[in-house]
Amino acid sequence: MADKIVVTGCQGMLGQAVVSLLSLTSTEHEVVPLTREDLDITDDKQVMKVLGKIKPQVVINCAAYTDVDGAEDEKHVALAVNARGVRNIAMAAVEHRIFVCHFSTDYIFDGKKKEPYREWDEHWPLNYYGMSKQGGEEMLASIWDGYLLIRTSWLYGPGGKNFVDTVRGKLEAGEKLKVVDDQFGAPTYVGDLAATAIVLADLRARGRYHYTNDAGNGVSWYEVAREIAVITGHDPEQITPIKTADIEQKAERPAHSVLGLQKIKEVLPSMVRSWKDALRSYLEKK
Ligand SMILES: NC(=O)c1ccc[n+]([C@@H]2O[C@H](COP(=O)([O-])OP(=O)(O)OC[C@H]3O[C@@H](n4cnc5c(N)ncnc54)[C@H](OP(=O)(O)O)[C@@H]3O)[C@@H](O)[C@H]2O)c1
Repeated sequence: MADKIVVTGCQGMLGQAVVSLLSLTSTEHEVVPLTREDLDITDDKQVMKVLGKIKPQVVINCAAYTDVDGAEDEKHVALAVNARGVRNIAMAAVEHRIFVCHFSTDYIFDGKKKEPYREWDEHWPLNYYGMSKQGGEEMLASIWDGYLLIRTSWLYGPGGKNFVDTVRGKLEAGEKLKVVDDQFGAPTYVGDLAATAIVLADLRARGRYHYTNDAGNGVSWYEVAREIAVITGHDPEQITPIKTADIEQKAERPAHSVLGLQKIKEVLPSMVRSWKDALRSYLEKK
């Protein structure tokens, strides 16, 4: 079915990946990328008006406040974008019968579970970013049932500040790095996430899905950094493991926020690849 698809937050890391994949691969869909200037999702009247005018079949909401430490100081901004902004989109979706694809985070979990979190597990965020994203999830679910919610973690890719590019840059500059080895999760190549979101949205898959690259029961940031060094031909000994307690970060992070991939593997097994394969293909392309 040919859809008109609005992509909000189209200049963010995920937004760029979604727009470029839709533009490259889709001959049937019409893509309408919207920057924050085109559509500020915190403005309820503007959201209703703009989506009413465009009349898309699908909105892929890539707009978000994503500064985890910043959210501790700017709680109201994080909430305005990540919770109220999602509410505004959901309300317009009800009015104009729009299917909504939205993204959330592993940071809604407290990280105390020793195995990967499932879609239905209880969540207790440790920081304001996580709280604001949890607010968005709840707003969406309570307002409109025509939605797909994809929780993801540790995104990297072109067009956004991210751990993989930062580590690679420091390794190339010959710098020594200290990286925490006691926070476990799963890195996710943004292109893989975008491709999966588009397929799920095409299928009109509803409800919650977890999607990351496959890291089993999780890898630490330190292991990811070492793998970056190995792939890019640098000395992994440039990287020293440290503990979370040794660094100052405003926001508390979950220690083990791995997302379980059983559901997505049942629906789209070919879309899930290992974190090492994804990382290698990203770094070798650059
Ligand atoms: N990055 C990660 O590691 C990570 C991990 C887990 C989940 N996620 C989730 O994945 C999604 C995409 O993240 P991302 O890394 O692509 O984020 P990002 O690079 O920070 O992009 C977010 C985009 O949203 C835009 N935006 C901010 N406030 C807005 C508003 N009021 N109205 C409209 N647009 C607004 C930003 O515009 P400006 O450029 O003008 O600020 C930016 O283009 C988010 O839902 C995020 O919570 C990300």
